[in-house]
Amino acid sequence: MLNGKTAVVTGGSRGIGEAIVYKLASLGVNVAVIYAGNVTAAESICEKCRLEYAIEARAYQCDVADFNAAKNTVAKIKADFGTAQILVNNAGITRDGLLAMMKEEDFDAVLDTNLKGAFNMIRHMAGLFIRGREGCIINITSVAGLMGNAGQCNYSASKAGLIGLTKSVAKELAPKGIRCNAIAPGFIATDMTGNQTDNPLLKMIPLKTMGEPDDVADAAVYLAAAKYVTGEVLRVDGGIAI
Ligand SMILES: NC(=O)c1ccc[n+]([C@@H]2O[C@H](COP(=O)([O-])OP(=O)(O)OC[C@H]3O[C@@H](n4cnc5c(N)ncnc54)[C@H](OP(=O)(O)O)[C@@H]3O)[C@@H](O)[C@H]2O)c1
Repeated sequence: MLNGKTAVVTGGSRGIGEAIVYKLASLGVNVAVIYAGNVTAAESICEKCRLEYAIEARAYQCDVADFNAAKNTVAKIKADFGTAQILVNNAGITRDGLLAMMKEEDFDAVLDTNLKGAFNMIRHMAGLFIRGREGCIINITSVAGLMGNAGQCNYSASKAGLIGLTKSVAKELAPKGIRCNAIAPGFIATDMTGNQTDNPLLKMIPLKTMGEPDDVADAAVYLAAAKYVTGEVLRVDGGIAI
């Protein structure tokens, strides 16, 4: 069902994005991998996808928070691949801190990357999807956007905003054959959570363990193929947000 399609995955050079890239490539999906600065990782992931799965894979450096950079990158992807049917907005950052001491630039950086970055990519790819009368957008939000989290007011706000964006885009673009869903991971073992193995919140996970990037990638594959599902927020969190 996904074989032969093309996916754009932001933040595909590490962690959850990397797992999504491999999982889609293994199903015959061509992949455009967007990264911020980690060129070596992004290029080696693409090379592995080409060799192991015989699909087209290319890496693009782009700060998704930059409206014009996102526009130029989508134009390059269109020139290289012709079109695309899947967009995974996975690029994200944290700048944690207590609200009373949070710097304005740390609030702005997180909102700009996590929320505006997703808007920028959807905004510039919508034309491709509308022309093809087909599109699937998957936004990687977080349980922090559902529940809030002390010390993460910027991150939680960005991820809650992403859920609002997901639902609005789902309603607006459904008549054009475009679906938009979100995945809300809990604690997943990546660079982002690498130093949190003693976080007391881990004890509150009903399934008693952190998740793996592949757990989120499996959910992304499900949503990419789920032709009657739109506007949904799928938790992949071991039950922490029940
Ligand atoms: N890990 C978790 O427990 C968890 C839980 C809930 C939600 N999430 C969300 O899942 C997503 C992936 O998380 P992760 O843990 O895999 O993160 P990660 O290991 O820190 O990787 C972040 C990825 O985003 C890219 N990136 C960062 N800023 C960017 C920008 N401005 N433009 C383009 N790319 C950018 C990075 O590129 P470079 O490699 O080039 O730096 C990297 O590929 C994020 O949205 C995160 O908020 C994660």
